Amino acid sequence: MDAKIVLLPGDGIGPEIIDEGERVLIAVAERFGHQFEFQRCPKGGNAIDSHGTPLPDETLEACRAADAILLGAVGGPKWDDPNAKTRPEAGLLALRKELQLFANLRPIKPHRQLIDASPLKREILEGTDILFLRELTGGIYFGGSGVKEHPSGEEAYSIMTYNTEEVARIVRLAAKSAQLRRNKVTSVDKANVLEVSRLWRRVAAQVMAEEFPDVEYEVVLVDAMAMHLISRPRDFDVVVTGNMFGDILTDEGSMLPGSLGMLPSASLGVSGPGLYEPIHGSAPDIAGKGLANPLATILAAGMALQHSLGLSDEAAAIDAAVESVLEAGHRTADIAAGGEAISTAEMGDLVVAALQP
Ligand code: IPM
Ligand code: MG
Repeated sequence: MDAKIVLLPGDGIGPEIIDEGERVLIAVAERFGHQFEFQRCPKGGNAIDSHGTPLPDETLEACRAADAILLGAVGGPKWDDPNAKTRPEAGLLALRKELQLFANLRPIKPHRQLIDASPLKREILEGTDILFLRELTGGIYFGGSGVKEHPSGEEAYSIMTYNTEEVARIVRLAAKSAQLRRNKVTSVDKANVLEVSRLWRRVAAQVMAEEFPDVEYEVVLVDAMAMHLISRPRDFDVVVTGNMFGDILTDEGSMLPGSLGMLPSASLGVSGPGLYEPIHGSAPDIAGKGLANPLATILAAGMALQHSLGLSDEAAAIDAAVESVLEAGHRTADIAAGGEAISTAEMGDLVVAALQP
């Protein structure tokens, strides 16, 4: 297969982890006989410096023409001024919106070898395997906002909206994903307070009843979900929710496997390329030191092979290579629990070596 893969290294540790993701993809291409063409583009804070915008037009065009996009991380203290004209995060939101990446898949499955790195007890964690589906192009992130005068100073507002189609398509994807897993969907909302959640709940119930009567379905309020996620995580299979609730719950969920450095995510659209990234940030404090864990990016590259290129065996080979490296006891600092730690590039070397036939 020939595929075009756009790399958006971004800021902080982004470039060093993307290097390892690229090397692993090259190793996969060699082993399985594919041709991957890579193109690196500016995005985030570095693009603000070089182009005055976090998402330059050339980058957006390259992304549109790609089969898959692998992103490192964006942002850092240099671009954090809340009064700045633009911010690295704005480029990420624009990319999601422009490519209509409405579905954000965030799998949370603690690696067996790392269970003791989790802040949760082993007996609570064992057996946890959750797929979060976060709606990514609607809700309060995109409902419009403003600031107006107020007798006390100012008043600001951000509006949360969802329409029937936006809810239906993400719930549909959740149900289809569940059919390939343990056949259960949990929809999370705040229908006891928010009108927008009541619409969400009505539409979700209708889609599930009419199109997926055989998939087990439940609704949970978001505040309760925050609790259940750490008290009985293994009860959940696919969890579907809106943009902001998903943002918060997936950060909470990311603590289950012990390190943010292990978690990949995929953002998928109606058609066109998917965007794949580690869920951690740009970690500017350790940038350039070779300390970062590249595994989330490597696993994200695996998700790209599976979801955008349809290469399931190749994706499984990456997962297996990562498992075997962990099984052999190799750890970057974030998962070493004080023990001996290897560097970003050494971890990449080991995964590449494990991919050799
Ligand atoms: C995420 C991040 C982003 C979000 C930020 C960086 C805009 O927190 O991908 O979860 O809020 O969506
Ligand atoms: Mg977030």
